[in-house]
Amino acid sequence: MSKQFDVLVIGGGPGGYVAAIRAAQLGFNVACCESNAYADPKGEPRLGGTCLNVGCIPSKALLHTSHLFAEAGHGFAAQGISVGTPKIDVPTMIGRKNTIVNQLTSGIKGLFKKNKVTLLNGHGSFVAQSESGWQVKVGEELVDATQVIIATGSSARHLPGITVDNKIICDNVGALDMEAVPKKLALIGAGVIGLEMGSVWSRLGSEVTILEALPDFLSVTDIDVAKEAAKVFARQGLNIQLGVQIGEVKASKKGVSIAYTDKDGKAQKLDADRLIVSVGRIPNTEGLNADAVGLKLDERGRIDVDGHCRTNLAGVWAVGDVVSGPMLAHKAMEEGVMVAEMMAGQSGHCNFDTIPWVIYTSPEIAWVGQTEQQLKADGVAYKTGKIPFAANGRALGMGDTSGFVKMLADAKTDRILGVHIISANASELISEAVVAMEFGAASEDLARICHAHPTLSEVVHEAALACDKRPLHFLGCEAGPIKAGCRVPRL
Ligand code: FAD
Ligand code: NAI
Repeated sequence: MSKQFDVLVIGGGPGGYVAAIRAAQLGFNVACCESNAYADPKGEPRLGGTCLNVGCIPSKALLHTSHLFAEAGHGFAAQGISVGTPKIDVPTMIGRKNTIVNQLTSGIKGLFKKNKVTLLNGHGSFVAQSESGWQVKVGEELVDATQVIIATGSSARHLPGITVDNKIICDNVGALDMEAVPKKLALIGAGVIGLEMGSVWSRLGSEVTILEALPDFLSVTDIDVAKEAAKVFARQGLNIQLGVQIGEVKASKKGVSIAYTDKDGKAQKLDADRLIVSVGRIPNTEGLNADAVGLKLDERGRIDVDGHCRTNLAGVWAVGDVVSGPMLAHKAMEEGVMVAEMMAGQSGHCNFDTIPWVIYTSPEIAWVGQTEQQLKADGVAYKTGKIPFAANGRALGMGDTSGFVKMLADAKTDRILGVHIISANASELISEAVVAMEFGAASEDLARICHAHPTLSEVVHEAALACDKRPLHFLGCEAGPIKAGCRVPRL
């Protein structure tokens, strides 16, 4: 006898667990299967997926500890606080990170209980279409479900010839679990993980070199943000080499030696104690038995879906990292909610144009909507409001005046097309821009909203005013790029 459910969710990451909870709230009888125990001491399946176990949450915990360490070492003295030379106890730092992970992953089990979602332990793979829907094998059990949501996520992409053992050569899993600060750390890939993990270990004292294949730095971000970030990270001691080609990588028990060709075509060698490979992620579709049921994949091996996460199979949906779009936890959750609501006959939606991005370096980088280079490429006429944090009273009080807010608005309609922030707390500041864009706001709308003083958000306000060339606390410049010699009075 197989178990019967209205909905089976395959994968318990942010896309899967949120879809399961929302579907249960809507009255469906829901099961979610998860095969990964991650580091669970009892070997039981862990909910939360990459995000909670080996992604967003542990990385942000380490970023916070290393930020405090760097502040204690370099930032406190200017405020009259002397603490001597700070020391880092890596096992305590990692233990704290693990406690947070345990708390959150077990919290989702609690949410499943409360919402009456059945957790099944095991790998889900399609067997066949059944009378009522789909038959899926979970571990050794057969499960029948009227509808199936695939939320199997992604795994780190590895490079041929570079064996990841998560000791000497790590992907995201080992990068979050080092037992000591490596004296020399190499990273391949200057993307989001490269910059975040490079920052963590660099702040704690590693000599960090990041080898990036592309000739341009952070080309996903707005061009001005990328330029500013490159300057700041160089000042922080991150050695980022662009346009490299990785050659042979030899690992020993003690370290790793990386041969590469630099941007000028010269052969180089980098010796390091540890290497982190952070060159993107691949969708988890292996083992789903997709072929047997005719589930269509796209040209990049992701599950092929329409704008509402419907696959080519009736009653089978797919969300999160396993489908197209940015590989972000909040995007996966949005899609999970949308699918559950669509299954219930509601008009679920996900606005892919207003999904925010954040890179949790210091300063943080956050953006939503179009970059200046995208608008130029699309031939869209736009206006720019760009204001630095240099004279913002709150930023001065916090001792961190780095960065700026850049707002891009349609030249004719004034509708906000993109907002790009590099600053302390940019991850929080971006929400205002997301809300504004979701409501189809014009820069004038934000310019006319009262912002609390003194806050960093006043710079968002000024950037909106600057779109109309009328910033109140920024003298000497027309709207547009900040020019050398502009006077920046108090804000
Ligand atoms: P996943 O979280 O990958 O979950 C999928 C789950 O499905 C996994 O637990 C897997 O074991 C399980 N599974 C797979 N196949 C099967 C099967 N056949 N049967 C049963 N179970 C299966 N995103 C952000 O938005 N903010 C961040 O700050 C952020 N930081 C990150 C830091 C790092 C180091 C990494 C690696 C990623 C980070 N991300 C971040 C990305 C984020 O983790 C992912 O976008 C998100 O986890 C995707 O959710 P998902 O549910 O699609 O997949
Ligand atoms: P990424 O796509 O952000 O960056 C990978 C980088 O590696 C790119 O710059 C790419 O050009 C480079 N690269 C690829 N092949 C290479 C090679 N052979 N040699 C040298 N460089 C090479 O991927 P990353 O950093 O692995 O992160 C994966 C995803 O996880 C992110 O794209 C993001 O979706 C998610 N993530 C999100 C975070 C956040 O929201 N703050 C934090 C960390 C990850």
